Amino acid sequence: PKESEDNLRSPICCIMGHVDTGKTKLLDCIRGTNVQGGEAGGITQQIGATYFPAENIRERTKELKADVKLKVPGLLVIDTPGHESFTNLRSRGSGLCDIAVLVVDIMHGLEPQTIESLNLLKMRNTKFIVALNKVDRLYGWKTCHNAPIEKAMKQQSRDVKKQFETQLVQIITQFKEQGLNTELNNMDKEMRETYRIVPTSAISGEGIPDLLLVLTKLTEKTMVENLTYRNEVQCTVLEVKVIEGLGTTIDVVLVNGVLHEGDQIVGPIVTSIRALLTPHPMNELRVKGTYQNHRAIKGAQGIKITASGLEHAIAGAALYVVGPHDDLEEVKETAMGDMKSVLSRIDKSGEGVCVQASTLGSLETLLEFLKTPEVNIPVRGISIGTVHKKDVMKASVMLEKKKEFATILAFDVKVTPEAWKLADDLGVKIFMADIIYHLFDQFKGYINNLKE
Ligand code: GTP
Ligand code: MG
Ligand code: NA
Repeated sequence: PKESEDNLRSPICCIMGHVDTGKTKLLDCIRGTNVQGGEAGGITQQIGATYFPAENIRERTKELKADVKLKVPGLLVIDTPGHESFTNLRSRGSGLCDIAVLVVDIMHGLEPQTIESLNLLKMRNTKFIVALNKVDRLYGWKTCHNAPIEKAMKQQSRDVKKQFETQLVQIITQFKEQGLNTELNNMDKEMRETYRIVPTSAISGEGIPDLLLVLTKLTEKTMVENLTYRNEVQCTVLEVKVIEGLGTTIDVVLVNGVLHEGDQIVGPIVTSIRALLTPHPMNELRVKGTYQNHRAIKGAQGIKITASGLEHAIAGAALYVVGPHDDLEEVKETAMGDMKSVLSRIDKSGEGVCVQASTLGSLETLLEFLKTPEVNIPVRGISIGTVHKKDVMKASVMLEKKKEFATILAFDVKVTPEAWKLADDLGVKIFMADIIYHLFDQFKGYINNLKE
């Protein structure tokens, strides 16, 4: 319908994949920046956001002479880390996005965090495309800067084409093993039942026009149902961080609604917005730079907020605005409702392990993981932050009923020495890990031992 097409917000696109597949570099290539070069160890450790105005995307896809409509104002792209220890950030990013790009290194194929990302996307039913990156690594590749992939392929020797074909066939098979039908992108073909693979190079830019065009097409598909702009503020805290000269700030993604300077916000701390800052378009929010100051901002947008008291904000939590007709206590209750939705995942029987994580987001991820049929570990208690004696006491309740559940699964948190000692004395097991899968492996190993 015409009227809703006039009122669309920018889609949010999440870039996911295994470490070092070139996620940040691909964005650098599109932005004309060098964010990746400034990262410690070349590793992304934070979640970032970049706004791409529609006209920039149109410009980059010009050569494909496709009739790019792109009725949305732009594209808000979220970069996530691929390193195994950042499952919570991948989960946060994938939880926010409308569509995604899964980046795969053509020389490596599917890797552990490719599969983890894939499972996060499947779980939320998110549509995505595969960027088969680093094609320039094929031996003998002839560079064709920023060319559409078909044009670049035509320049390659028979040998390069053969290498490409071999890698592609292998990777399609690997996807099939994950229950996914993928196919090399063909601009002229409708490909409803398959996921498109777009070959790219983040270094020399081959395939970038194709990637942007396919993203645009995917956007149009998901448009009217999911992208109709809504006035109600929908906002999530990405990161809480201290910035020199600004104090503690929060980076948020505003999906819908408008934020104003001076707005009273709850997230779950109560404060008022001092400043609304964004990087310039085509620049990364997580990189310190010059910011644009706004009186008001409409979603979808990545925003840095300054205010007092933000050191108590929780990354991964929703941010609410107290409107002129809203009751602060009610809004605070709604904010606590987020905690309750997490609480609702707890086993009603009262039997299960205790889980503890660093943030609301990582706790949610962990609970989702424990619920999957393959894992299926019941949970009776949850907590955020360091494991203290009281948490051990809580877990010890299960000692009488089901010894194996007298266990704390601690994800990305510390355990106090007193808590360790008490756990030892009582016979409560504490498993610690920064990687969700490792918690599962430790716990399964423990149960198998008990059974023997
Ligand atoms: P994390 O965020 O840490 O998971 O990594 P990433 O996926 O963002 O990869 P990143 O952009 O940091 O790139 C990793 C390395 O691969 C860097 O040394 C890049 O220069 C290199 N690289 C990325 N894309 C390409 C590509 O298309 N071709 C080649 N030859 N190298 C690439
Ligand atoms: Mg990166
Ligand atoms: Na990297």
